[in-house]
Amino acid sequence: MATPPAPANLMDALVSLCKRRGFIFPSSDIYGGLNGFFDYGPLGVELKNNIKAAWWRDFVQRRNDMVGLDSSIIHHSTTWKASGHIDNFTDPLVDCKVSKQRYRADQLFWAAVVVDGKTVGYVSALEGEATEAELQEKAETFKRKKAIQGKLEPVTPKDFTQAAADQIPLIPSPATGEPGSLTPPRSFNMMFQTYVGALRDDSAVAYLRPETAQGIFINFKNVLDTGRVKVPFGIAQIGKAFRNEINPRNFLFRSREFEQMEIEYFIAPDADWQKCHRDWIAAGFAWLESIGIPRALLSEYTHPKEKLSHYSKGTVDIMFKFPFGVQELCGFAARGDFDLTQHQQFSGKSMEYFDEAAKRKYVPHVIEPSLGVDRILLAALCAGYAEDEAPDEKGKLEKRVVLRLSPRLAPVKVAVLPLVKNKPELVAVAEQLHAKLQRKYVVFYDQSGAIGRRYRRQDEIGTPWCVTIDFDTLANGTFTLRERDSMKQERIDEKTLFALLDEKLD
Ligand code: GAP
Repeated sequence: MATPPAPANLMDALVSLCKRRGFIFPSSDIYGGLNGFFDYGPLGVELKNNIKAAWWRDFVQRRNDMVGLDSSIIHHSTTWKASGHIDNFTDPLVDCKVSKQRYRADQLFWAAVVVDGKTVGYVSALEGEATEAELQEKAETFKRKKAIQGKLEPVTPKDFTQAAADQIPLIPSPATGEPGSLTPPRSFNMMFQTYVGALRDDSAVAYLRPETAQGIFINFKNVLDTGRVKVPFGIAQIGKAFRNEINPRNFLFRSREFEQMEIEYFIAPDADWQKCHRDWIAAGFAWLESIGIPRALLSEYTHPKEKLSHYSKGTVDIMFKFPFGVQELCGFAARGDFDLTQHQQFSGKSMEYFDEAAKRKYVPHVIEPSLGVDRILLAALCAGYAEDEAPDEKGKLEKRVVLRLSPRLAPVKVAVLPLVKNKPELVAVAEQLHAKLQRKYVVFYDQSGAIGRRYRRQDEIGTPWCVTIDFDTLANGTFTLRERDSMKQERIDEKTLFALLDEKLD
C-alpha cells in the first residue's frame, strides 16, 4: 500500500518532484527567483488546465442556472473604492527594524514568560503547526538562561495584534531573538498598484484585481441584459488575482499571483440564503472529492462574526490537512447585497432585477463559492503523493514514488510503451496507437529504457495507465494495460481501451 512520507518531508519531496519533472518552477529562476511567484512547466500547466476545465464543466456547462464570464484584470479604479478594497483590503504589517524582516501581525505569536505568577519576559514565534510548543520551549530556555528560580507557568500564545503598546518593545523579534526592534502593526493594503496610460498622476492609478469577484459584479447588468438568465442564477469566472502578500509561504499555498475560480450566485433578498449557502458548501465538498481529494483530509471552519470580511454576513471555509497544518482551501461567503448596492451607488446605474413572475424589482443577494486553483492543485499533489515499493527488472523490490492523481486531473492520461525499440513492425503499431489516442487525450510515447523504469517515470507524474505493445499485439491486436495505483496488468484491445478512457475521464 502506498503511503505518504512524514509531513516534514512531504513538502520538500513535492517541491523537488515539481521542479525535477516540470510541474512548477520558481518564477524568474535564472535570476534567483521572485518570492511569491511561480511558473507552471509542461506537466504543471496540463494539471492546472485540467482542474479549471473540470470545474468549468461541472459548475458552468453542466448546469442550467450558470453562465460564464472572462472580465479584464484591471478595472476602473472606482470599482475598488465601491467594493471596499481600497479602504479595507489590508493586512496588519509589523517590521523588524534590525533584520528588515516583515511579518503579518496575525501570524506572529508571542507569550509572556510567567514565573510564580510574575511576568519575567516575553518570547515569540511565527505561526506554524506547533507554535504553542515552540513558545513553551522558548519560555523554558529563557528562564534557564536567565537563571530564574520558581515555577514556570504554561504559556498563553497571543498574536501580535493583541499586544498592548507597552508590551511591543519587550517582545523579541523572531529574526533576532532580541526585543526592541518590532514596530506596532500598521495597515498595509495588499493590492498591487499600477498606472494606465502615459501619465503617472493620481488620475491614472489602477490596481491588479485582488479577486475575480468584482469583475462579475460590475458586469451583472450586462449579463442580465442578454436576457438568458433568471434569478436564482450564477455567473462564474476563472482568472488571475494578485495580492502583495506580506509573507508568501508554503510553496503555492500563499503566493502573490494566483488563480481563482469564483461564482457569484444571485438569489432573491427573501430567499433562504442559509440553505443556499449550505447547498454550495455541500457542492464544494462533493466536487473536491470527485477530483480525488479525500473527504478524510477535508474539514469545515465557520468564521466567527467578529472576524468576517467587510462584505460578508457569513463565511464558511473548506479546510485541507496540508503537511504544514489544517488550512483554508476555499471559501463560501454570503455577501448579501453589499457589492451590487455599492456599485449601484458609486456608478449611479441601477443594479435591480425585475422579477416578471412576482412583478417586483430588487437588488439580488449573493452566495459566493471561491476556490483558489493553485491551492487545489497543491492539495491534490499533497493528497496524491505516496511512496511504496515495486519490483525492478529482476523482481527485487525498489522504492516507487507515485502521484495518485484522479484520472481527470492527471496531466498525461496514457503512456504508450513499445516493449522494444528495434522491431520496426512493433514500433509502427505503437506509433499508430499513440497517434490515435493523441487526437483525444494527452498521451506520452516512451521507448527508452527498461519497461519497469518507464512505468516508474509515469507513476511519478501520475499517469493513470500505461499500455505496452509487445509481440502478442502483432499477433492478436491486444496489449498490456497497466494501472498506476494497483500496478495490475491485463490484456485488452483498442476498443476496450477507448471505452475505459471515455468512462473514467468524463
Ligand atoms: N472573492 C472572495 C475571496 O477572494 P478569499 O478567501 O480572499 O476570498 C478565496 O480567497 C480563495 O482564493 C481562497 O480560499 C484561496 O483558495 C485562494 N487564495 C486567496 N489568497 C491566496 C494566495 N495568496 N495564494 C493562493 N491562493 C489564494
